[in-house]
Amino acid sequence: MLKDHYENVRIERDGGLTWVILNRPEKRNALSPALHYEMAEIIDELEVDPETQVMVLTGAGDSFSAGFDLREYFRNLEGKPIEKARAKRAAHHWTWERLYYFPKPTIAMVNGHCFGGAFQVLVACDLAIAADEAAFGLSEINWGVYPGGMVTKAVAEAVSYRDAMYIILTGRPFDGREAARMRLVNFSVPRAQLREETVSLANELMSKLPVALSAAKEAYKAVKHMDFHQAFEYMTAKTIATSALDVDKGRTKALGQFLDDKSYRPGLQGFRVED
Ligand code: ACO
Repeated sequence: MLKDHYENVRIERDGGLTWVILNRPEKRNALSPALHYEMAEIIDELEVDPETQVMVLTGAGDSFSAGFDLREYFRNLEGKPIEKARAKRAAHHWTWERLYYFPKPTIAMVNGHCFGGAFQVLVACDLAIAADEAAFGLSEINWGVYPGGMVTKAVAEAVSYRDAMYIILTGRPFDGREAARMRLVNFSVPRAQLREETVSLANELMSKLPVALSAAKEAYKAVKHMDFHQAFEYMTAKTIATSALDVDKGRTKALGQFLDDKSYRPGLQGFRVED
């Protein structure tokens, strides 16, 4: 069960859209062990929460997240291997394993600073919208290390070889427009429009059949690293499973609307389960 209150995260619900807000604005929402433990719990709950159809991850104040907490995650856990292993496991659990495979659509709303370890949260989300004014950067190289954890893997997943090498090796900061150019986010908008654009995208997703959305993202993320034969076998089985889970018989209704009633053009309109 979700708790009413978390120290480091705020949860807001709005008709199927669940906002998960990293909430340490005074520390630029740096990802501390305490935040990782709370998020590990929250994401497990939201995964099975019937009220959550789309999850938006963002940060309180002017930051998305300044990355892993340099004091609490790194310095304070030096020489404490057990605590470090626990914190690392919680971090990996929510920032990658559960978030990348979250069964419902996820959107990262990058409102401001997004550095280092925050990239793995960003890339693990299915979609991302940034403020033009947001500041991104892989600052690791500037303090003498390389982007560890899942950061380098996340960057390799999301952007081209040239862009990846450039941002990894230089550590130069860049803005939301540049993040959109390199496809690290889907698009960027002026900060004043960020929330409105995010809500509009979330509403569009919520108008579609949930079982189809889950299958669509799960299939993409599963087949990406399979060979052709495995992908064909997987998708054949997935199609049967999806059809069995589609209790609304959405596809049958849509076929009737298009072929018989001629009331619907799926190429041009969204899904209409209510008809
Ligand atoms: N870890 C811990 N604390 C942080 C972090 C962080 N990653 N980022 C910011 N903070 C803290 C600062 O220490 C400061 O705390 P204090 O008020 O107790 O001194 C507070 O947040 C505000 O930081 P400022 O630097 O004063 O804020 P400003 O808005 O000027 O700059 C910026 C924000 C650009 C994010 C800057 O704080 C920064 O460069 N942070 C480090 C970013 C970074 O290198 N992240 C990668 C971490 S490594 C990894 O994720 C794997």
